Amino acid sequence: MLEKLQKLGHLVGNTPLVPLEHPSIHLYTKLEYHNLMNSVKARTAYYMLSSAIKRGEIHQDTTLIESSSGNLAIALATFCQYLKIKFIPVIDPNINGVYEDLLHSISYKVVKVTERDETGGFLLTRLNKIQELLHSIPNAYWTNQYQNPDNFHAHYHGIGTELVQHFETLDYAFIGVGTGGTISGISNRLKEAFPNVKVIAVDSEGSVIFNAKPKKRYIPGIGASTVPELVKRAVIDEVVHVSEQDTVDGCHQLFENHGIFAGGSSGTSYYAINQYFQGKTFDRKPNVVFLCPDNGVPYVQTVYNTEWIKWLSNQAAFIS
Ligand SMILES: Cc1ncc(COP(=O)(O)O)c(C=O)c1O
Repeated sequence: MLEKLQKLGHLVGNTPLVPLEHPSIHLYTKLEYHNLMNSVKARTAYYMLSSAIKRGEIHQDTTLIESSSGNLAIALATFCQYLKIKFIPVIDPNINGVYEDLLHSISYKVVKVTERDETGGFLLTRLNKIQELLHSIPNAYWTNQYQNPDNFHAHYHGIGTELVQHFETLDYAFIGVGTGGTISGISNRLKEAFPNVKVIAVDSEGSVIFNAKPKKRYIPGIGASTVPELVKRAVIDEVVHVSEQDTVDGCHQLFENHGIFAGGSSGTSYYAINQYFQGKTFDRKPNVVFLCPDNGVPYVQTVYNTEWIKWLSNQAAFIS
C-alpha cells in the first residue's frame, strides 16, 4: 500500500514561490494550489496517510473518516480512491458546491451536518458526528487533522523546509489558521533557520482560535469554532483578524493586481499584509511570504460572485 501511495508523492510539494510587486516590501507567495487536487491539504493528507500506513494503522479493509471544510476531504478522497479504501468525509453547509459534488463522486459516502454549534460554526457538530461514526462503522480510522502530529510534520518538512532552502533571510510569514497544522509546522521550521522571522497568524473574524468573539462565518478554509490542539505548537508573534468582506476584497485585489486567481484564505492573508505594512517604510525592504492554499475556481459562486458578495454584506450588516 505504501509503495503504491508513494507513486503519487511527486505530485505533492515543491510548489512555485513567486515574487509579487509591492511598494514597500519584497513580497512572495507560495502557490500551494499546484499540489495534487489543487490545495495545500495534499501535503497533510499524504503525510498523515503514509505515516499511518507505515505504523500499520491503515489496511485494505479500513474505512477512513475525517471532518473537513473541503480541501482535506478532496485530497484524502483522491488518495483513498487510488488505494481502493473507503473514505467518508464529514462536511458542513459552508463547503463549496463544486467540492460537495466532487466528494459525492469520489468518496464512499458523504456525511453532511447542518446544525450550527454554540459558537455559530460547524466544527463542533462535525466532531460529534465523527465520534458517532467511529462507534458505528467497523474498522473506522479517523486521521484527526486537528491533533495529528503528522499534520505538523507535513508542513515542517514540506513548506517549512522549502522556504528555508529558498531564502537567505526571511523577515515575515503570514499564515492562515484552520487546524493550525500549517502554521505550527512552518513556524517551528522557520524559527530554527531565521530566529528573527516574525510569524503572523491570520484568522477570520468570528473564529475563536485566538479568543475572539464568535460569530457566523461563510467562507471555508481558515477559522474554527474551537481551539485546535496543533495551534498550541505554533510559534506566533502576532495575530491579525480579517473580516469576510475584507477577505473578498483581498481575493479580488490579488487577481486584479497580480493575475493570481486564488481561494478565500489567500485573499485573507494578502489583505492582512497590505493593512499591516500600510504607511510603514524600511531601510531594507523586508522579505515577506504568504501562502495561496487553494485556487479560486471553487469560490466562483461565492467570493467571485457579485450577488453572493451583496448577500454577504447584508449578513454583516444584520449581525452588527
Ligand atoms: C483554503 C485553506 N486555507 C488555509 C487552511 C488552513 O490550514 P490549517 O488547517 O493547516 O491551519 C485551510 C485548511 O483547511 C484551507 O482549506
